[in-house]
Amino acid sequence: MTDLLEPRAIGQGLVRRDGELKVRGTATYAVETPVENPAYCHPVQATVARGRVTAMDTAAATALDGVLAVLTPFDAERLASTEDAEYAVLQSDEVAFRGQLIGVVIAETSEVARQAADSVRVTYDEQEHDAELAVDHPGLYKPEKVNAGHETDTAEGDVAAAMATPQRDGGVTLERTYSTAMYHNNPLEPHATTALWDADAQFLTLWDSTQGVHPDRAAVCEVFGLEQEQVRVVCPYVGGGFGSKGTPHANVMLAVMAARALPGRPVKLALTRQQMFFLAGYRTPTIQQMQLAADRRGRLQAIAIDVVEQTSRIKEFAEQTGVPARMMYASPNRRSTHRLAALDVPVPSWMRAPGECPGMFGPEVAMDELAEELGLDPVELRVRNEPEVDPETGKPWSSRNLVRCLREGAERFGWAERPRGRREGDWLVGYGVASSVYPTMRQATSTANLRYADGRYVAEIGAADLGTGAWTILPQITADALGVDVGDVDVRIGDTQYPTASVAGGSSGTNTWGSALVVAARAFRDKFGGSPDDGDEISGDVDQAAKDDAHAPYAFGAQFVEARVNADTGEIRVPRLLGVFGVGRVINPRTARSQLIGGMTMGLSMALHENSVWDPRIGQVANHDLAEYHITVNADVGEIEAVWLDEHDPYVNAMGSKGIGEIGITGTAAAVVNAVHAATGVRVRDLPVTLDKVLPGLP
Ligand code: MOS
Repeated sequence: MTDLLEPRAIGQGLVRRDGELKVRGTATYAVETPVENPAYCHPVQATVARGRVTAMDTAAATALDGVLAVLTPFDAERLASTEDAEYAVLQSDEVAFRGQLIGVVIAETSEVARQAADSVRVTYDEQEHDAELAVDHPGLYKPEKVNAGHETDTAEGDVAAAMATPQRDGGVTLERTYSTAMYHNNPLEPHATTALWDADAQFLTLWDSTQGVHPDRAAVCEVFGLEQEQVRVVCPYVGGGFGSKGTPHANVMLAVMAARALPGRPVKLALTRQQMFFLAGYRTPTIQQMQLAADRRGRLQAIAIDVVEQTSRIKEFAEQTGVPARMMYASPNRRSTHRLAALDVPVPSWMRAPGECPGMFGPEVAMDELAEELGLDPVELRVRNEPEVDPETGKPWSSRNLVRCLREGAERFGWAERPRGRREGDWLVGYGVASSVYPTMRQATSTANLRYADGRYVAEIGAADLGTGAWTILPQITADALGVDVGDVDVRIGDTQYPTASVAGGSSGTNTWGSALVVAARAFRDKFGGSPDDGDEISGDVDQAAKDDAHAPYAFGAQFVEARVNADTGEIRVPRLLGVFGVGRVINPRTARSQLIGGMTMGLSMALHENSVWDPRIGQVANHDLAEYHITVNADVGEIEAVWLDEHDPYVNAMGSKGIGEIGITGTAAAVVNAVHAATGVRVRDLPVTLDKVLPGLP
């Protein structure tokens, strides 16, 4: 148990401290950093999916007025470490995927850089590539671990035996395959860097768009063989990341390389929207083979998920899609597996709720299908499979309010009066439901510094605010931990000059940095009392915060969707989307609501629109821009509402908060599919739900 803070500032819907700067356009983002006499970079990308670069003719490029340098694999500096193949830019003539970085032009203007990059003539020894994922791909292998350090496979009991049991007593079994598409993170602010290498001081300054200045610096130091003291990373504002800026990508290394080629001259490199579809990570497509067995009262006897997905040939990323099915519902027999195909494709990476987001699609649609087979209310089916303890670890839950979320959501949404395929004019109407889940994580390292100066409390920590609200909520936490007015607290974040902070990822930022701030604040009070002197200062580490290992900490939720499907055209509309969440104590209802509906919006987008259309013949996303990669907009939903329970969890941290950045996207797409099924009787198992999949089955 932790000593929970008395909430005073916590719980207030304070406006964003960075809001006015952003609205006025005066918050500076990485590429806009005002620097003297900047030069501009434009990458050269491979136009084959596999092979070797045999020659690069840069004569036309260097002849252009304003071109300062052209770097290629044949002349670029040798890196200190090429262990991470994604970061080993221009180190070899090998091409591992189409769009890979094979050069960079640095010029006086971005226009000249781009023109010069286009005029570089590249010849290849092209080889046959393999860029097509299939459930029976001959190269499928078992990764050692999956993302976030989870076991690749788990098994308990005997799923096969439970599935083979004849359906005695009216029980049912279900075997279905579901798939999610390839998705690309598209934050408004593209991946961008301003870099300056001071050769005399041997010092690198990076203004980079990142979800973590310290992890970003660590990666750059590793690749270039620099000491931490030789690099400063600055990032006060981020125009969205969703995981794609949680680890640096190759563009950052290319920008640093360009800066080192032009010592003393700041260089800027911003990826174009199209380049982001090759270089900024993406969510792997997933194929999910599900098995469920239940007795006639709907109690699960078996739950199994076998996942097939892809990674790149040069670097493994194993999305932990099978993980949430391990702990969601009670069942004596359980199995989960992950198999990957390593293809000639760009490197996949984090995208909002890696694992839980795709992994709450197949299972939550399968539960809906099971409910239908059993003639049970899908809310009731979930309630009947509530596990008393975490099925995976046997630990009690720190708090688990899934049932309350389901019941409260059903009540608010009018679930009891739900229409099933009711026709209103040209429209077929149905409601759907699905559960949400996300683990409550805390990172191992983060330090906060707290100082009293000029009558104000100043907290420093290298945390990141990628639009999530950290600028605003960290003062709220600090104020309550100190017992002072939130207006008396300043927080400084987004710079490696401040103490080390963990990545803003895995919905762990508030949990981690907030815990460090509370340790610092309590130590400050212990040491300096209620009336400190100017200059009094102390620091606190997250590893000094109470940590509970005896419970399984998760946030839960339930999402409800109303779908209306046009009986003639199959057009799908979503007039209502409701999420009810149990996410611990909410620190700021204004920024929390924004996170939750943001996640739900991305989930709706995944359900109906998003789809990186992969062309395996050339190894490229065909719709690699926002004209053709469709993303949900305001007009795609009527009412979208996120509410939360008044949840008390004394085990997670001193704030009692669980992390809210990712849970909103989990389960949403399943709820949409389930609603479309309720409206039409058509079951779509492969995302996105587009009208061509619905139309043939309409009554
Ligand atoms: Mo989130 S994908 O962990 O930034």
